[in-house]
Amino acid sequence: MSTATPATTPSAKKNLGYKTFAIGKFGFERDEYFAHIHYPGGVQTMPVDAFLRALMRDVGWGFFYGTVNFDHVIGTINHYGTVELFAGLLNEAYRSKNLHYVETFDSKDLKKVFEQMLDDWTNEGFDPYAAPDETGNAYGPKRGNNTKALKRERIVSARMVGLPGDLPYRTDAAGQFINRQFTDVPQDSPEVHAEPGFEGEVHAFNMFAYASRSDVTWNPSVVSNVKDSQICATTEEYILPIFHGNDRVEWFIQVCDEITWEVADGKTGNPRAKVTMKAGDVAAMPADIRHKGYSPKRSILIVWENNDSTLPKRYSGGELKPYPVEF
Ligand code: PHB
Ligand code: FE
Repeated sequence: MSTATPATTPSAKKNLGYKTFAIGKFGFERDEYFAHIHYPGGVQTMPVDAFLRALMRDVGWGFFYGTVNFDHVIGTINHYGTVELFAGLLNEAYRSKNLHYVETFDSKDLKKVFEQMLDDWTNEGFDPYAAPDETGNAYGPKRGNNTKALKRERIVSARMVGLPGDLPYRTDAAGQFINRQFTDVPQDSPEVHAEPGFEGEVHAFNMFAYASRSDVTWNPSVVSNVKDSQICATTEEYILPIFHGNDRVEWFIQVCDEITWEVADGKTGNPRAKVTMKAGDVAAMPADIRHKGYSPKRSILIVWENNDSTLPKRYSGGELKPYPVEF
């Protein structure tokens, strides 16, 4: 980690209590409303709440699959061990004028700086995983912290949810309440009639009811993991805080309500499609695009990922087509 010091903006000089951060030739500072990302050749400014929501996902997901675009300029590309931090790399206007800048870091080094920045810049009462209507604001001078929300651990099941020996089903008693926007989600449980002797092994639970008690948004959590198949459920409200460019095909199943996806070319950012998914719709997101979702009411989405680590090279090298089906 180098000690490159970012140029200070006038408001940062007021000493609002926030630390500045640097890695390589990148520098980060925040003021009351904005995050400023300095790099050789420029500075990119983002609303600080949007920046923290994106940063939370990049940290929480270990840089995710492929690209995490914080906005149309700043982002990371995961190379699974190393990670590129870039400005303008995936923006045609920047690229064509050679205004982009990229550096590669060990993933653990960048993660450490990102974690420290997220912790220092997140004020008391602001939860970057929460829907905007369910959290305080991110603005103003430094005001406490919210480490507890940032470090929240996902609930890990040892067996299928609700089977003996596993964690209890989400309940009011455990502080996991039905979300205010999911009061229409049926809470009944399926009937299970097991053959004698199999009572402890056959089980079913209401996945809608389970997801309706999630307190986070835009945070897919693995609900089944079979070889490389990862089925991840997530509850969505407002806007996916990143523009995600996957390095493989992924599938979306809209379980309830509605999300509109803005789809753009992965490399240039040029618009490609608007996809509105209603309950029951299934879509494959190609391997060469980026997408951002808009969910006007809280909705449940299943994201189906293929964890095969050979895929990024096979897609980028052209061995596999960027879409899964030829019609
Ligand atoms: C995705 O871009 O794959 C993605 C990420 C987070 C979500 C939903 C979809 O909540
Ligand atoms: Fe994606």
